[in-house]
Amino acid sequence: MQEFKIALYPGDGIGLEVTPEAVKALRAVEPAANAKFVFTELEWGIRYWNQHGIVVPEDYLTQLRAFDAIFLGAIGWPELVPDHISLVPLISIRQTFDQYACIRPCKLLPGVETPLAGRPEIDFVIVRENSEGEYVDSGGIFHRDSPEEVALQTSVHTRRGIERILRYGFKLAQSRRKKLTMATKSNALKNSMVLWDRVFAEVRKEFPDVESDKAHIDALSMYLIQAPSRYDVIVASNLFGDILSDLGGGLVGSLGLTPSANINPERTSPSLFEPVHGSAPDIAGRGLANPVAAVRSAALMLEFLGCAEAARAIESGVDSYLADAGPKTKDLGGTANTSAAGDAIVAKIRRFVE
Ligand code: IPM
Ligand code: MG
Repeated sequence: MQEFKIALYPGDGIGLEVTPEAVKALRAVEPAANAKFVFTELEWGIRYWNQHGIVVPEDYLTQLRAFDAIFLGAIGWPELVPDHISLVPLISIRQTFDQYACIRPCKLLPGVETPLAGRPEIDFVIVRENSEGEYVDSGGIFHRDSPEEVALQTSVHTRRGIERILRYGFKLAQSRRKKLTMATKSNALKNSMVLWDRVFAEVRKEFPDVESDKAHIDALSMYLIQAPSRYDVIVASNLFGDILSDLGGGLVGSLGLTPSANINPERTSPSLFEPVHGSAPDIAGRGLANPVAAVRSAALMLEFLGCAEAARAIESGVDSYLADAGPKTKDLGGTANTSAAGDAIVAKIRRFVE
């Protein structure tokens, strides 16, 4: 039996409510995975801030390195700590651990409504560059709080970074419907996105079996609404991928459904799995959060850890839960609370592991 050391970082807000539901799902598939999950809960975020005045301990990266994977709920509680401070650890985990591939599947699941008329088929994966780009901490504020105030926010796009995320996307496309679209904006961003275009023109030659094209991010946002079925794998820079992720969540019916994996493909440090949604302070603490995105993120974690069968059991359990008239959370038109929804999901998952 394999043992996996998992860091549980529930974070803040609804992160605290959905993480236990993901743990329930993982426990339910332990026998199928022939694995044991050893969870260590890290009470970081606002809980840590209240005691220590910082959101994570100084050595948080060293502590996290010891785990096989990290499961994160959500971070942020802007009433107490500005988001750009409380979220520094998340962005620096992604960058320091070289989790350069952020994988965000957007699939319209059975029983779920999309706001789009005619219920088009939606099944694409956003492959977001996760280690550089617009999220690099480079820049500064000068003449702060004066009329001359100046903010510089420089993005960093490296040939190596673009090559590796494109190759990751192309390989993923080879295992799916063999289509790839790269988001660009080279008509205006004449340094960064022109480099993306050039690297794309080179890398696509290595994958002649994949039909590939590029689209400006503004137009792509419109096409995704007009014709989402056209898309299979979408590769995007850090910020573009972030924006498309929420668009994707909207298309497939709720941000409460979409999972994500922040992957270090070379496995030189742990990868991190988290729902796409945030801490949602507006609904936190009331049992309103949908646990599906967290549960599906746990499935992505299992897949990465090599427990494919257990991952499929979770996915099938979630599909069956959504397709049935069981207890649903408010975002899906129901009245169930987070934990009741989690129990109903786990009951379905159990059917796929017996
Ligand atoms: C996400 C989130 C984060 C991001 C925020 C919370 C910093 O929106 O994971 O999509 O922008 O990456
Ligand atoms: Mg986001």
